[in-house]
Amino acid sequence: MATVTFTLNGAETTVEAPDDMPLLWVLRDMLGLKGTKFGCGISQCGACTVHVNGRTTRSCQVRFETLEGDDVITIEGLSPDGTHPLQQAWRDLDVPQCGYCQAGQLMAAAALLERNPAPTDDDIDTAMQRNICRCGTYLRIREGIHRAAAAIASDDTASRRSGEGA
Ligand code: FES
Ligand code: FES
Repeated sequence: MATVTFTLNGAETTVEAPDDMPLLWVLRDMLGLKGTKFGCGISQCGACTVHVNGRTTRSCQVRFETLEGDDVITIEGLSPDGTHPLQQAWRDLDVPQCGYCQAGQLMAAAALLERNPAPTDDDIDTAMQRNICRCGTYLRIREGIHRAAAAIASDDTASRRSGEGA
């Protein structure tokens, strides 16, 4: 067993669990955060994607004991109230079909927009290619990312304008 303290969705969290338990099982079974999904367990599908220290990470592949001091964000922490621009775009465009892969898709997309606020189709296809959707929602995912990028850019412009007028 190991006792590990890390930041989870902004809150310091201490968990005691078997050393080699994957983060995915800590999230789902020990902490009740069921948004992150198990798809394959072998790093092939992306359903379990979370952010660790700002990077997309497959939580099925991370040993719990390695997380001491790390900053973990799951789909539940992407925004306080489900209003991240990507979540808004996903709703506006009805991106999900069955929905199973979508938490992983959103976390991968959020990391992409953090490092590249105006991605091209190619940038999106490259960044998202390891997140599999059995329902084939790839075109809507791409459209959703463009829509969220535009919303973020327009918010930034509006805040700059209001800052100039202050
Ligand atoms: S469950 Fe982790 S990559 Fe598929
Ligand atoms: S929406 Fe069904 S697997 Fe992606």
